[in-house]
Amino acid sequence: MIDNPSRALSDDKLEKVRRVSPSAVRNRDPLLKVLRAELPPSGLVLEMASGTGEHAVFMAQNLPDIEWAPSDPDQGARASTSHWIAKHNLPNLRSLLDLATTDADWAGAALAALGQAPQALVCINMIHIAPWPACEGLFAGAEEVLGEGGILFLYGPFAEGGVLAPSNEAFDQWLKDQDSNWGVRAIEDVCTVAAGHGFDLLKTIPMPANNTSVVFIREAGAQ
Ligand SMILES: C[S@@+](CC[C@H](N)C(=O)[O-])C[C@H]1O[C@@H](n2cnc3c(N)ncnc32)[C@H](O)[C@@H]1O
Repeated sequence: MIDNPSRALSDDKLEKVRRVSPSAVRNRDPLLKVLRAELPPSGLVLEMASGTGEHAVFMAQNLPDIEWAPSDPDQGARASTSHWIAKHNLPNLRSLLDLATTDADWAGAALAALGQAPQALVCINMIHIAPWPACEGLFAGAEEVLGEGGILFLYGPFAEGGVLAPSNEAFDQWLKDQDSNWGVRAIEDVCTVAAGHGFDLLKTIPMPANNTSVVFIREAGAQ
């Protein structure tokens, strides 16, 4: 469940492993601003679908009172994140986890590896680039992982009231061309799944390039 780069790589090999996502570089500052406002001031945050690992390093650098735990089910993504972690060696960046929201007991695996419940889950740009069960599994696991008042933060493109921004319409088509099970999700459908697992919609925040931050809170009465 935990990855560590097991051997040193030469610089050119390292650069191939350590990926750079232009969109992560573009959206990290707006995301930091929103996360600073919406996450608890301190505590443990579990990031699902960390991708390259650049967000994990950037958030850990800029939110020093938060312990950031990255995860991703993709081996190449984890290799990249491992090397970003090794490059920056931040005290508040936890070991990388291998978690997929479609795994039956990802929540139990996460809690066992972390040794404590996180105060928040962050999932950036995942639910549209994965089949719908990835979103359902995210909330099902979040129900187990987060206690009352826990925050589930999503970011990405969304449809609202059946309307998609033109740029998201083109993106939706592109996603469906890659995989017919992918696609920009309707915020209403996500809220229905969230409610079924004990999460209330706290707020939506418009973000650059027709993206949206969506903040859910675990309802009172949660375990
Ligand atoms: C477009 S990338 C986003 C990466 C990063 N969050 C970002 O914004 O740069 C989508 C990521 O979701 C991961 N992913 C796909 N299905 C997943 C699932 N069911 N659970 C967790 N992560 C998943 C992929 O491995 C990939 O790294």
